[in-house]
Amino acid sequence: MSHQTPLYSALVRRLALDRSAFHTPGHSGKGLSAMQDLLRLDVTELPDTDSLYEAQHVILQSERGAAEMFGAARTLFSAGGCTLCIQAMLYLACVQSGKKKIIADRVLHRSAVNAMALLDLQPVWLLPRADAGPGFPGRVSPEQAEALLQQHPDTAAVYVTSPDYFGVLADIQGIARVCRRHGVLLLVDNAHGAHLFLTPENLHPLSLGADMTACSAHKTLPVLTGGAFFNLAKSVPAAHAKDAMALFGSTSPSYPVMASLDLCVQWAQTHGKAAYAALQERVERIRQLAAAKGVGLPRGKTDPVRITLHTAALGVTGHQAADIFRAHLAEPEYADDSNLVLIATPFHTERDFLRVEQALRALPQGAPLPQSHKLPSLPKAVLSVRQAVFSPWEEVPVSNSAGRVAAAAACPCPPGVPAVMPGEQITEEIVRFLKNYGFLTVKVVK
Ligand SMILES: Cc1ncc(COP(=O)(O)O)c(C=O)c1O
Repeated sequence: MSHQTPLYSALVRRLALDRSAFHTPGHSGKGLSAMQDLLRLDVTELPDTDSLYEAQHVILQSERGAAEMFGAARTLFSAGGCTLCIQAMLYLACVQSGKKKIIADRVLHRSAVNAMALLDLQPVWLLPRADAGPGFPGRVSPEQAEALLQQHPDTAAVYVTSPDYFGVLADIQGIARVCRRHGVLLLVDNAHGAHLFLTPENLHPLSLGADMTACSAHKTLPVLTGGAFFNLAKSVPAAHAKDAMALFGSTSPSYPVMASLDLCVQWAQTHGKAAYAALQERVERIRQLAAAKGVGLPRGKTDPVRITLHTAALGVTGHQAADIFRAHLAEPEYADDSNLVLIATPFHTERDFLRVEQALRALPQGAPLPQSHKLPSLPKAVLSVRQAVFSPWEEVPVSNSAGRVAAAAACPCPPGVPAVMPGEQITEEIVRFLKNYGFLTVKVVK
């Protein structure tokens, strides 16, 4: 029987829907004209194409251009996404300090959970305060970082996710000041904020004092999926950075992905600032429309071009809202019980934004949905993350899991705060919480 190309055909069918893509990748299916030609540039390491992990000429020059753009002491390309940058960043922090303890934001992506297991790190948790409004995890603060650094002077680094999936920004300047005082590095998972040096107010964490930032360029900038920038400030010796990336990365990084990073740097330098000023202004009008309609928006400092809609304030779940947006030919990035997230980029056209506005107007208005899912108390860690992840495990019904030790993180909405991390003991409170969120099973250590 001949192969029916199910994946390729599904991708082609999606194209025919002609939906405005308010999701990653940040080129929104349009991007830069030179990107159309990248298939012909899909080559390998040749004498004139350099080699990512031993970059000496064209890749090194291109990375230097990126470093200049970010104001970094060193920028490295990743064709393995932000995940690879996060792995390298945590590795470097531990190798530089000779320590394994990390004070980490509990708002964290599974790439960091996995890196903690691979590197045998000991996290000490910074719990976000619910300061961004109902439905959002909120921010960690400089005061929290200060208190934990005083209790744990044997810490390699502080690790913060900012912006989070909803565009909520932590006080990076304040946290960086605290870290400097204690002589520890500040690492920022900036997966969703690669573009933040282009917004009218420079909100990029590297500019605000972070020592290393992992920036998922493909999420918000005109870069092919998998393209990311790993930035080091001058406080971090760069000598081992390539080796750190090579430790985790494929030996066949994609040239089209790297070329798209190169093209992105040129675009950002020539058009980026003007493009983001216009985008911010357009997004602000959409936010005002949403607020006038009664949709909730995250409070406090946020990425000014992220569109995060707390539709539960209107009595509409994020999933229901997503269906309404799709019916108006706008495909969102993410939906959960209470929120809808759209990634806006300079490559969206006025037609795309009008679709968003039409969908917003079409949202029904009812009584707010109850927001009762308070996070359970932090469970006790009885195994290290690594011990738990590398132990034999089984999947058991949530209702039978109290007292068992989690072998994997259980996170009700993947961009949020894990209710339980690998190595932590599941409590009755966590069981109730996970059941509330519709979890049927959890992975536990055998
Ligand atoms: C907060 C956060 N960090 C890291 C990552 C990993 O990024 P990438 O998919 O580029 O590897 C993601 C991906 O969704 C993310 O949301």
